[in-house]
Amino acid sequence: MTTLTTAPAPAPVAAPVHDVAPVLPVVGADTLVPLVDGRQVPYANLDVAASAPALEAVADRVTRVLPLYASVHRGAGYLSQVSTALYETARRTIGAFVGARDDDLTIVTRNTTDSLNLLAGCVPADPVTGEPGRVLVLDIEHHANLLPWQRSTDATVVTGGPSVAATLAEITEELAAGVATGRPYALLALTGASNVTGEALPVADVVAAAHGAGARVVLDGAQLVPHRRFSLAETGVDYVAFSGHKTYAPFGAGALVGRRDWLDGGTPYLAGGGAVRRVRTAGTDWHEGPARHEAGSPNVIGAVALAAACDELAALDPRVAGEHEDALRRRLVDGLGALDRVEVVHVWDDAVDPVGVVTFTVSGYDPGLVAAYLSAEHGIGVRDGRFCAHPLLGRLGFDAGAVRASVGLGTAGEEVERLVGAVRSLVIEGPQARYDVVDGLWVVVDDPRPVPEGSGLEGLLATAALGADEAFGCLPDDV
Ligand SMILES: Cc1ncc(COP(=O)(O)O)c(C=O)c1O
Repeated sequence: MTTLTTAPAPAPVAAPVHDVAPVLPVVGADTLVPLVDGRQVPYANLDVAASAPALEAVADRVTRVLPLYASVHRGAGYLSQVSTALYETARRTIGAFVGARDDDLTIVTRNTTDSLNLLAGCVPADPVTGEPGRVLVLDIEHHANLLPWQRSTDATVVTGGPSVAATLAEITEELAAGVATGRPYALLALTGASNVTGEALPVADVVAAAHGAGARVVLDGAQLVPHRRFSLAETGVDYVAFSGHKTYAPFGAGALVGRRDWLDGGTPYLAGGGAVRRVRTAGTDWHEGPARHEAGSPNVIGAVALAAACDELAALDPRVAGEHEDALRRRLVDGLGALDRVEVVHVWDDAVDPVGVVTFTVSGYDPGLVAAYLSAEHGIGVRDGRFCAHPLLGRLGFDAGAVRASVGLGTAGEEVERLVGAVRSLVIEGPQARYDVVDGLWVVVDDPRPVPEGSGLEGLLATAALGADEAFGCLPDDV
């Protein structure tokens, strides 16, 4: 008997996306930036995974609320009471947006980093030995979901496998080993979507594995929440952390949402006014609830802005947003992947439904030079370096860094096409301007580009060099 096998049809190559329009309007979409040749072009912001521009609806809401702004939680004045109501209403909206359960707490923080550091101080110690609670984390994580556990808990870092299936198996095995040795994990900390490739493990499988071994799950939602509908109640995830500035609300607020008991029992994140019931010289009674971790004057405007962004995202048809993002992402992967000398980075070969983050390298060109070229000659903003994910970049063989393009609701197809075309020109013709490394950063030699009118700046290079001297943790040459 002859068995006929049919090879799976190759996935269709994504067509150019010139005509794909943004899903929602963002502030600054028409901002012109100068090129080294003297022209001005609309800025192509393909770095929204780092920080996304404000939605117009968010900026409108902030403008309307600013005249109502006064002290919060502390004042008897009418506007103080309005501000308190605005803040607490925003808290409810933010929690509801990520499917908070009835007994979950929503704590307003500064960002994802803040949220995860806060939770790290709340992981209960081992009830028998009194030693810090055990936390399991993968090596694919952003430093924000790695360092807090290493500093404040007993953290084990597992190296992921080449596939989703292999990585899940490693996690499951390690969780079971914890149980078998009488030292079970308290928490599994995992990204909801990689900030390097947009890929993720299936949440349902992760929750089943962790809960099966008695561990809770915290999802680093920094890249997930701006891109996908997510619900604590529906997934069973115990905690989620995310950032307003990546969720189209760049006004300084983020959130940690999740189970109350650890948060009520944990170390108050900040010591100060608002977090206490009563203070005596001999001791302090701390609040429970969100106030326990929100000492100091709350960021009312940040919370209102984040809630406004949540409202906008909740009202979106997820299919429309998904199709937009998928079209742009596929075009980036296919368009860049088809170019000689360009390699698109993947963590796993079987990941499904990645978010709009695409990382690549161009052989023969330092990632910093590629990013400087895209800015100076094409008006495109991307990110280069190791993306605060040094262990992952090292394991994948990209210790010298890479270039990351990321898209969001405000991204137009033209911007993606401009990037693909610009990288093609780089590969074929090389850069047209001259570039050099100054204080660790690639810059245009004798950069003629003026600073934006009204910015109050005297120059960009001096400012960037100042930043490099301060040694930001995620610069490409940071070792
Ligand atoms: C996956 C991931 N986690 C955490 C963070 C940290 O976010 P933030 O800087 O807003 O605290 C980022 C930021 O890039 C991220 O992409």
